[in-house]
Amino acid sequence: MSKPRRSGYRVLAPKEVRSDDRELAYEVLVGLSEHPKRLPSRLFYDDEGSRLFQRIMALGEYYLTDCEREILEAHKGDLADVVAAEPVNVVDLGAGDGEKTFILLDHLGKRSIEHRYVPIDISEGAMSALVERVTARLPHLDVEGIIAEYSDGLEALAQAESSRRNLVLFLGSNIGNFDRARSRAFLRRLWNALNPGDLLLIGFDLKKDIDLLLRAYNDREGVTAAFNLNLLTRLNRTLGAQFDIDKFRHFGTYDVFSGAMQSYLVSLERQLIEISQLSLAFQFEPWEPIHTEYSYKYLRSDVTTLAKDTGFSIQAEFLDDKRWFLDSLWRVEKAPTAMPS
Ligand code: TRP
Repeated sequence: MSKPRRSGYRVLAPKEVRSDDRELAYEVLVGLSEHPKRLPSRLFYDDEGSRLFQRIMALGEYYLTDCEREILEAHKGDLADVVAAEPVNVVDLGAGDGEKTFILLDHLGKRSIEHRYVPIDISEGAMSALVERVTARLPHLDVEGIIAEYSDGLEALAQAESSRRNLVLFLGSNIGNFDRARSRAFLRRLWNALNPGDLLLIGFDLKKDIDLLLRAYNDREGVTAAFNLNLLTRLNRTLGAQFDIDKFRHFGTYDVFSGAMQSYLVSLERQLIEISQLSLAFQFEPWEPIHTEYSYKYLRSDVTTLAKDTGFSIQAEFLDDKRWFLDSLWRVEKAPTAMPS
């Protein structure tokens, strides 16, 4: 008898999601009170932002997505071999449109390896589109999406009483949006939420020709600029802010020493921006920046150290032909708990 297929998603802790607007207000208050000003990058991914990011991923200049797609196509068989022995949860952190994950899910299906797909994403719009699209293409797929931020998603993972092995996907260089210290903290938390023997496939954008990096974050069509500026539109909508997006410009630059692409919004003139829900106005001087995003780039040796420092062993390293991007397959290592003698 075949089990009923599950397909859908749930909103994790709906109460907290509703208080999200208050938290957003608080983060904006704090960030715009700093010098230099900054806004948290998780604010990018409202429904419109998620759509714009999909357009970024389709750009030729944004090589990251093409490289990773090539890697997954070339190594889906190797990945399937690793998880073939027992049923597996494919957990997709920051799933977005799930395009790359589809390559793997499709292959697991063809090989009749029992799996459930657990996408975790912060945008409800992106999640419902994803669940619809993926089940249209893979009608037999068992899907249970979770709408949550990474940290709440990890909690849900840790609490699930499932004894199944997890294969966590953290693709697309999402790790690059954490600074070096936060990436360690995040991976330790992930390690803590997982069981020994669970796997993590994690994408790293490698250090490369600086001109390629600059082009990837300053595309000619201006999609990246629209994506960055959408943050201000979101604040206008949700917090009653009065940003005129024509009076700001996107700027993306690379810092060789920290190894980070850095994205900014720069005020083009002196202006006072009211934010009605904060009962406050923020002064901007001409050319004053707001920092919005880091995208850290890695050396292969950085990746090795990071795995070791956070409790993982490296099982395999998959690169694209140009060697611009690395998907590293890690295994959770935990020493058995000492028994009292
Ligand atoms: N996670 C993506 C990255 O860092 C997000 C991104 C792409 C981005 N282009 C951007 C963020 C431009 C801010 C500005 O690669």
